[in-house]
Amino acid sequence: MQAYRSALLYFRPHSDPGQSAVYEEDGLLVVDQNAQGTQVVQAVGPYRGLAARYPNVPVQHFPGHIIAPGFVDLHSHYPQTNVIGSPAEGLLPWLEHYTFPEENRFAAPDYCAQAATFFVAEMLRNGVTTALTFATSHPASVQALFSEAQRQHLRLITGLCLMDRHAPPDLLNQSSQPGGSDATEQSLIDSETLLQCWHGVDRLGYAITPRFAPTSSDAQLRGAGELAARYPSVWIQSHVAENHEEIAWARDLFPAFSSYLSTYADFGLLRQRAIYAHCIHFDDADRALMRDSGAAAAVCPTSNLFLGSGFFDYAGADRVGFQYGLANDVGGGTSFSPFHTMLAAYYVGRVGQTKTGLSLSPQHLWWQHTAGAAQALGLGGVVGNLQPGCEADFVLLNPQATPLLARRTAQASSLDELLFAMIVLGDDRLVAQTVIS
Ligand code: GUN
Ligand code: ZN
Repeated sequence: MQAYRSALLYFRPHSDPGQSAVYEEDGLLVVDQNAQGTQVVQAVGPYRGLAARYPNVPVQHFPGHIIAPGFVDLHSHYPQTNVIGSPAEGLLPWLEHYTFPEENRFAAPDYCAQAATFFVAEMLRNGVTTALTFATSHPASVQALFSEAQRQHLRLITGLCLMDRHAPPDLLNQSSQPGGSDATEQSLIDSETLLQCWHGVDRLGYAITPRFAPTSSDAQLRGAGELAARYPSVWIQSHVAENHEEIAWARDLFPAFSSYLSTYADFGLLRQRAIYAHCIHFDDADRALMRDSGAAAAVCPTSNLFLGSGFFDYAGADRVGFQYGLANDVGGGTSFSPFHTMLAAYYVGRVGQTKTGLSLSPQHLWWQHTAGAAQALGLGGVVGNLQPGCEADFVLLNPQATPLLARRTAQASSLDELLFAMIVLGDDRLVAQTVIS
């Protein structure tokens, strides 16, 4: 057993996310190893009162610091670290000119390994302890990322990118025989092999990963949906309704379905544990489909602002009631820092579809990147919070990390002011340490 004494931030479950944060000025977090060797929270609360119950437990004291749940990130692309900040007219030219050529380099296992090492370290350095992320269409890219996440104890979910049309030929899923015609079938076989190899091993999970409807044939989407039905505990990840040209393309390719999102529904790809990136240009029928299926949106504000894709409609999502959480979407997204992502989400709320815009509270923003994102993944009570029973992934924040942070946080006269100061001024320097269970 081990205890940490510091200010503590965590969330009351089942309460209004905008007002669910608990802040202990002088708190104690007690953790212990479970039978699987994972560190799990035993107790959390005020130091006075709790300390006496654990008299023989060693305590590490961090005066002036804040312990908060490790961040949960719902969408990124580990092969796109090197394309961060590549400007383009919009999503489709950006994919063509920067993203696909870079992803092509992941045909080489050595390239995958060094990219995976950097990506996992960078996520952890920024305080992300659970991540759902894309690999490429090369099985070796998936192997490399799982291996590295396992080594560094990151809780990671990924899968083989399914893409059997409308991308450069070398990037399409390949058949087992050079020049063979079974590439679609092979992509599903490879997905199942990787799933059986990695899903549920240590802190790893598999996600069935059709890139987006335009780059998959009917047969591939159908096969992905069948796989998802056979393995209900695996995740599904894809993209939807990000950009007007993308939507027009998807509607053109799948004219029989009532909307872009419903294409996925009809192939069996909308269910709990299905996470769709962007979800910007939705109508209420789409929102109801998300709600009724239990799927969740990965809101990617830095990406949406950078690529000019649009603004996630928070008011619409809450009115109809579907789940969502935050994501960095590297490399359409511009930063690994959850603080940058939360700040961009705040801007998106302010300028969003309602006339006056919303003012998302700092507690709500923080919840979207921790407990709320965990809930969207079906991992509520497992990660993203510090309640007893949660895996003990946390960040140690140093509000003195920069002169401006120190000056501003010293003036904070409420929890919301303190959280806002960190969201607005924070970056990787605020994360003094990431502790992983
Ligand atoms: N839609 C399909 N692929 C991608 C991608 O790599 N990034 C983003 N932002 N959108 C996509
Ligand atoms: Zn993406």
